[in-house]
Amino acid sequence: TASNHVRIVEVGARDGLQNEKTLLPADVKIALIDRLSSTGLQTIEATSFVSPKWVPQLADAAEVFQGIRKVPGVSYPVLVPNEQGYDRARAVGATEVAVFTAASEAFNRKNINASIDESIERFRPVLERAAADGVKVRGYVSTVLGCPYQGEVPVSDVVRVAKRLHELGCYEISLGDTIGVGTPAKARAMLGAVAREVPMTALAVHFHDTYGQALANILACLEEGVRVLDSAVSGTGGCPYAKGATGNVASEDVVYMLHGMGMPTGIDLDLLVATGAWLAAQLHKETASRVTRARTA
Ligand code: HMG
Ligand code: MG
Repeated sequence: TASNHVRIVEVGARDGLQNEKTLLPADVKIALIDRLSSTGLQTIEATSFVSPKWVPQLADAAEVFQGIRKVPGVSYPVLVPNEQGYDRARAVGATEVAVFTAASEAFNRKNINASIDESIERFRPVLERAAADGVKVRGYVSTVLGCPYQGEVPVSDVVRVAKRLHELGCYEISLGDTIGVGTPAKARAMLGAVAREVPMTALAVHFHDTYGQALANILACLEEGVRVLDSAVSGTGGCPYAKGATGNVASEDVVYMLHGMGMPTGIDLDLLVATGAWLAAQLHKETASRVTRARTA
C-alpha cells in the first residue's frame, strides 16, 4: 500500500497568476515564491516560458526565475511549450521544466495552437535535450474530465496522451481537470484507468474548483492511491484559454484536509495561510481558501 506522505506541487505563482488581468510586478511574484519556499513545500512551479503575447502576465518569467531564492531541496519547475521556451528556461538556469498538452483536440488548439500530435512532436526535442542536460520534465494533460469546447472527453483519450508523455520521458504526469467539472467517482475511474498504463507513483492530479468538487475529487483520488497533488495558495488560478474556468483548489484547504487525515506533507499550515492572506491582499481579492478565511477572519 502507498505511504501516507503527500507531495504538494504548488502552482500558485504560475497557474495562479497567469489569468490575472492586472499585471503584478516581478518583485511581488518573487516575494510570493520566497514566502512559499519557507513553508516546507518541496515543489513550487515558478512561472511559464510561453509566448508573452499569449500570456502577458508571465512575460517577466526570466526576471522572476532569476530573482527567487533557490532553497536547497526545493524544486522550481517552469512551463515550456516548445524548444524556444526550453532555451529561455535554460538560459536562466532552470533544472526542471513542464510540458503541457491536453486530452481534447479542441482545447489544445486554443491553448497552444497545435493538435495533440503536433504538440507531442514539439516536446520530443525538449525531452531529448532535457535528458542530455540532466533536466527533469513533468508533463501535464489538460481537460481530463471535460473540455470547454468539446464537452465530454473519453477516458481512453486521457490514457493514451498520459501514456505517450510518460513513454517520452516525463517523470510525472499531472492529470488536469482544467475547468473543474469532474465529480469524485468519475475522477477516481479516470485515475484508475491511467494507472493501469502509467505507474501510480508517476501520476499527480490537478483540480480546479469551479464547481466546488475539488476536495471531494482529491479524496477519491487519494483513495485510489495518488500521492502527488497540484494546488494553488489562496485558490487562485485558471487558464486564459479555458472559458469559465476558475481557481485551482486552495493549497491551504488541501493541507488542512491531509493533516486532518493523518497524511503528512511537511508543510507548515500557519505559514501557508499567512502567505495566502498576503497574496489575496496583493491581488486586492478575497481569498478563495476557506481555511485562510476561517483563520484570518
Ligand atoms: P504560436 O503563435 O502558434 O507560435 O503559439 P509560433 O511558433 O508561430 O510563434 C509566434 C510568436 O511567439 C513568435 O514571435 C515566436 O517567437 C513567439 P514573433 O515572431 O511573432 O514575434 N514564441 C515565443 N516567445 C517566447 N517564448 C516561447 C515562444 N514560442 C513562440 N516559448 C505557443 C504557440 C505555444 C507559443 C503559444 O500558443 C503559447 O505560448 N501558448 C501558451 C498558453 C498558456 O500558457 N496557457 C496556460 C498554461 S496551460 C494550463 O494552464 C493548464 C494547466 O494548468 C493544467 C490544467 O489545469 O489542465 C497546465
Ligand atoms: Mg491548471
